[in-house]
Amino acid sequence: MVDTSFSNMTHSTQATERFLHVITWGCQMNVYDSNRMVDLLRPLGYKVTDKSEKADILILNTCHIRDKATEKVFSELGRLRQIKEYREEQGQETIIAVAGCVAQAEGEIILKRAPYVDIVFGPQTYHRLPKMILDIARKSGNVIETDFPVESKFDFLPAPEEAQGHTAFLTIQEGCDKFCSFCVVPYTRGAEESRPVQAIIDEATRLCELGVKEISLLGQNVNAYHGQGPDGNIWDLVKLAEKLSTIPGLKRIRYTTSHPNDMSDSLIAAHRDLPALMPFLHLPVQSGSDRVLKAMNRGHTAKEYYELVDKIKKARPDIALSSDFIIGHPGESIDDFKATMKLVNDITFAMAYSFKYSPRPGTSAAVSTNQVLENEKDARLQELQTVLKDQQTKFNQDTVGRTIPILFTNKGRKEGQIAGKSPYLQAVHVQGDESLIGQEHLVEVNECLTFSLSGNLVKESIPL
Ligand code: SAH
Ligand code: SF4
Ligand code: F3S
Repeated sequence: MVDTSFSNMTHSTQATERFLHVITWGCQMNVYDSNRMVDLLRPLGYKVTDKSEKADILILNTCHIRDKATEKVFSELGRLRQIKEYREEQGQETIIAVAGCVAQAEGEIILKRAPYVDIVFGPQTYHRLPKMILDIARKSGNVIETDFPVESKFDFLPAPEEAQGHTAFLTIQEGCDKFCSFCVVPYTRGAEESRPVQAIIDEATRLCELGVKEISLLGQNVNAYHGQGPDGNIWDLVKLAEKLSTIPGLKRIRYTTSHPNDMSDSLIAAHRDLPALMPFLHLPVQSGSDRVLKAMNRGHTAKEYYELVDKIKKARPDIALSSDFIIGHPGESIDDFKATMKLVNDITFAMAYSFKYSPRPGTSAAVSTNQVLENEKDARLQELQTVLKDQQTKFNQDTVGRTIPILFTNKGRKEGQIAGKSPYLQAVHVQGDESLIGQEHLVEVNECLTFSLSGNLVKESIPL
């Protein structure tokens, strides 16, 4: 529910257009959140601009997961400050807002070090953005909203009025109670919470009416989803995905990120039985060493991960497996690293992300005295990434010669090309008419390039 007092107040100034510029860093959930902030501000007359100097409101939606997250924020804020000052010289006011996970963790520090920032708010309070803007307009000083409110922001967000294309993110679960030793997310996103089923169905239906064909369900532990169903029972991810697959127009369902411990037998079976559920699974393992997995508080062993992958591959032999790895967690010895390399070589991944361990303030691993030397982390990471890259190339090469459905989502880089995604999340382009964008067609893949595949439309193919 949008604060209507503000819409009334601005009514007299409706003739002048207002612009909003959002900079989004971090994970898909931040992308989703940024889109919802746009939805919230649209009724107040704000239009999105990609030109920051044109914006009356600049929102920096931040990520705290690794590296020098806070420093990166201050450096970007320095740039935004210049824009604000330039606009001030032209007689235009600018609101600078810092959102997201750094805002949640470092809100007070941001306001202290960068007093030209007007608003700071965390991932669970952005539904109050219209009110915060109103407070700024009343010149009542800076605004900080980084509590974890009792109300759920989702109850206050308007239905989307625009889709960003034919694929969309939809947050169904948020927060995390797992407290892995290295991870800041439980502190920035708060406790795990699943949205009610009906709210998700309504949002997905709306997105499909706006032309969306593929929805990626988001959650920090999305496969632990347990939302209140319309029948009064608790629904799991499988039941939710089955229901969503009946929405007219929705062709594809994905979900991310899953925790190995929440990968139920019924979810594995759904990869075999539910055609809309795409054969792609991001299942982070982080390490192949039991010692490190224990130190990380991941709650499973390497053997359990191997067994889980076996089960998944049995149910859906062509599944594209993806993972995250952290290299150099405190205490990781060379033997621990070798165990990770062994796991990678045994399982083989279609794609994966790998990171050097980065100490996060407030997490248990950050205070460990057993930190791995930086150059050692670099060398291990490089060794791992070489193998992961080869595995990705091999996975893509194995697609050559196959005929697979591609959902076209945009124009290709070259004239006359259109591009889209395979069920395995590979980028594929073909020569084809723009009118096919938004449709799914069969494509015979005939070439594997560095980052994508190319192929030919199967001539007689009609939209699938
Ligand atoms: N919920 C997901 C992960 C979310 S964070 C899960 O449980 O797997 C995304 C990824 O960032 C993690 O999988 C991890 O590989 C990486 N990451 C998180 N904290 C990190 C840190 N302190 N240093 C390096 N990488 C980190
Ligand atoms: Fe972070 Fe672990 Fe929660 Fe994933 S499961 S969000 S890595 S604490
Ligand atoms: Fe980053 Fe927060 Fe997402 S720390 S990865 S934006 S949950």
